[in-house]
Amino acid sequence: MTDKKSPPTTTDAGIRVRSDEHSLTVGPDGPIVLNDHYLLEQMANFNRERIPERQPHAKGSGAFGTFEITADVSKYTKAKIFQPGASCDVVMRFSTVAGERGSPDTWRDPRGFSVKMYTEDGNFDMVGNNTPIFFIRDPLKFQHFIRSQKRRADNNLRDHDMQWDFWTLSPESAHQVTYLMGDRGIPRTWREMNGYSSHTYSLVNADGERFWVKFHFHTDQGDGNAYLSQDEADKLAGTDGDYHRADLFNHIADGDFPSWTLKWQIMPFDDAKTYRFNPFDLTKVWPHEDYPLMDVGKLTLNRNPTDFHTEIEQAAFEPNNMVPGVGLSPDKMLLARGFSYSDAHRARLGVNYKHIPVNSPKAPVHSYSKDGAGRTVKVEDPVYAPNSYGGPSAQPEAGEEAGIWHADGEMVRAAYTLRKDDDDWSQAGTLVRDVMDDAARDRLVQNVTGHLTAGVSEKVLQRAFEYWRNIDADTGVRIEKAVRDKLGGKSKAPGMASAKSIGG
Ligand code: HEM
Repeated sequence: MTDKKSPPTTTDAGIRVRSDEHSLTVGPDGPIVLNDHYLLEQMANFNRERIPERQPHAKGSGAFGTFEITADVSKYTKAKIFQPGASCDVVMRFSTVAGERGSPDTWRDPRGFSVKMYTEDGNFDMVGNNTPIFFIRDPLKFQHFIRSQKRRADNNLRDHDMQWDFWTLSPESAHQVTYLMGDRGIPRTWREMNGYSSHTYSLVNADGERFWVKFHFHTDQGDGNAYLSQDEADKLAGTDGDYHRADLFNHIADGDFPSWTLKWQIMPFDDAKTYRFNPFDLTKVWPHEDYPLMDVGKLTLNRNPTDFHTEIEQAAFEPNNMVPGVGLSPDKMLLARGFSYSDAHRARLGVNYKHIPVNSPKAPVHSYSKDGAGRTVKVEDPVYAPNSYGGPSAQPEAGEEAGIWHADGEMVRAAYTLRKDDDDWSQAGTLVRDVMDDAARDRLVQNVTGHLTAGVSEKVLQRAFEYWRNIDADTGVRIEKAVRDKLGGKSKAPGMASAKSIGG
């Protein structure tokens, strides 16, 4: 904190107050009186300081900075922010998924990687993770997935039995669980990790040509693989629960600004129809041999928040914030996220959450939204459209065309149509065999063994061994042996809560 000249304390109405320390009483030893309005205001505001935490991704922190284009990618998109020479301000937030607002930064978990770009076309949000894929491919399972990662109903403990129960009954989780149990599950710092859109998005250029795209933010602080061992992370969880938050803040405060290089994988629009697996399936990566990475731009964080609550806790990222030239795709998860986040913000921050400065676009706003709790921006007549009084008028050429694709068929509840290479295990197996080296595979076996020996019931254990054998036969055999050796013939009875809560 810096020393500054002390101004007079006032109430929230700007009225100077008589004391910072003493309530108004009838004589020094007498009762407090109801007309100590300042005391009442202090107590009442204090009782309302906490707002609901985010349902998933409650623990996190962030900072401000800039994004600038470093290559000419205008043949893929007309979005102004991706034209040569463009730049804009950004706010970013990093997070863990399953823990609560005060939980340790170093619990094993995917990490959120959210970027809001304040572009001339309006806000563009990329709400990604530090892994290029996800646990499930249908949004109906998301709520169940998150509940299985959080806390039980009976004792409010986290429970590895329910985590593995859900995962092993959802084989599409194999690829992401392999990432989670590997080094990416506990990054050394947020600065040193990569971020991914994970989903496929769409782009459209000035001539109306469409493309599919995946966003990769590669850290410029190392190779993206810096990790903490389980032991290091467990110690930090006890000694410095805010380790990642402090690391980011202190580096920025010291002028050591972290940056990321934005790269794209581009798929020609028509390839998606015939590619060997469904390119919109969120559990799959696109091999770089098929769709190489190309440089796009640079994102740098250079300014810390000065008020965490208004600038980070109240930041509202939403995948539906897409500017003309960028759009969603037929990925069912992404389409559902297009609704879920703005709904969460209305519940968490109120209907006028976009008036909170961190969420306000720097582009002019001329919407027909009106009134509601917490509105701070004045509304002008006419309040309806169409009108003949010069109210805002829609611009068809701003276009939703990036998000448009061809679809036809009966209304069904069904998985994506399977293609030749659509299976749940292959890419997870490739990650174990071709991306990890021997030491990383050893850590994987150790991490999974530690997790499976902390309160997983016999029936779920058996499915977990089969799950790992399906990913990689050798790894599965090693995990089973290590778990059996460690448990010495014992496993938890089904339905019982684990004795302790361990970072999932
Ligand atoms: C946060 C829903 C999948 C990344 C959230 C929040 C909700 C949510 C409701 C809390 C938002 C808030 O209160 O501010 C969903 C649903 C999903 C889904 C319904 C699937 C159907 C994903 C995926 C990713 C992701 C696939 C990454 C690729 C994040 C991140 C945050 C978040 C980074 C934290 C945003 C922040 O920093 O404020 N999600 N999510 N989510 N989600 Fe998801």
